[in-house]
Order: sequence, then structure tokens, then C-alpha cells
Amino acid sequence: MLALVNTTGQPPRNLILIGFMGTGKTTIGKRVARSLGMKFVDTDLLIVKKAGKSIPKIFKDSGEEVFRAMETEVLKECGGKTGQVISTGGGIVTRPENLELLKSSGYVIWLKASPETIFERVSRNRNRPLLRTDNPLKTITDLLTQRAGLYAGAQHLSINTDELTMEETCFGVTESAKLALGIG
Ligand code: S3P
Repeated sequence: MLALVNTTGQPPRNLILIGFMGTGKTTIGKRVARSLGMKFVDTDLLIVKKAGKSIPKIFKDSGEEVFRAMETEVLKECGGKTGQVISTGGGIVTRPENLELLKSSGYVIWLKASPETIFERVSRNRNRPLLRTDNPLKTITDLLTQRAGLYAGAQHLSINTDELTMEETCFGVTESAKLALGIG
């Protein structure tokens, strides 16, 4: 039987959720943090707080590059602490330096979903500037193709959420995190 108890005397490292927009990182991260008794943080929310404006406004006023630089900055800040569930923006893997940062900051779980599932989940939300296109399903498919290898390179574990309910995904993430972080 594997030991589930953290015997290091140190707080557990972080659990980090990566994956495309609409894969449930924030909702699942919040629930998992609650059941593990860990602090929840979200890189998108940290950026919004730092910038004092919404993500669409940051993209509009300053462009994607400025947003990406802020993303790396907040990842460094929260990755330097421990005992948190960190939900990340879907494009965090697009900066090469973030890949190493992610892996060294905690246990990284990639929440996967098909373009169709993602399209269905994001179609009611206008808060994602990159999906404000004439054909969002094609944009999702193209971006996923570009990013799949990047998510694969940054993860320790992947979970395909297409056929799972929110509760089932939370269960899978929570139990894997307990094992990986040595918390019971
Ligand atoms: C982005 C994903 C968004 C947000 C920004 C860019 C992306 O986060 O960071 O709109 O490039 O995939 P969510 O994945 O939380 O929607």
C-alpha cells in the first residue's frame, strides 16, 4: 500500500491545472482546493488584479504579449509558494520558459477535452478574446492542434474530461493529487 501521508514536515507543493479554455480548470480547481484544504489561486484572476482591468481589456489596450509577460510574472510569484491549487490560463504553455516553471512549481495535471466539448462549454462566455472570431470552433481546433504538444510536455498526468461529469473529474484530480503530493 502506498503511503498517503506527507512525512516531510513541509507543506505540500502545489497542484497545478493546465489545459485549454473551457476545460473546467477554475471550477474544478476551486472544488479540489476545498476538499484538500489548500488555498486556491487562478493566474487569470491574479493578472486581472495586478492590471486593474479585465482580460479582454488588457488584450485590447496592450496586446497579447503584455498579457503573456504578466502571466509569466504571476506564475513565478505563485509557483514560489507551496500548498496551493493553481489554475492557469489556457495559453500559459505558449511561452517556453513557463513549461519548466510549471513542472518545477508542483504536480501538473492537464485537463483535456475535444474541440466540440470545448466549443459547447465556452459558447456562452464572451470573456475570451482569442475566441472572438467568425468561426470559434475552427479557432479552437487550430489552437488545440498548436498547443497539444506543449500541454503534453508540461504535464505530469492528463485526464480526458469529455466523458466525465464535473464530480468525476474532481474525484480523479483530488485522488491523484493526494498520491502525488503525499497528503491524506
Ligand atoms: C487564454 C485563456 C484564458 C485567458 C486568456 C488567454 C488562452 O484563460 O488566459 O483569455 O490563450 O488560451 P482560460 O483558459 O481560463 O479561459
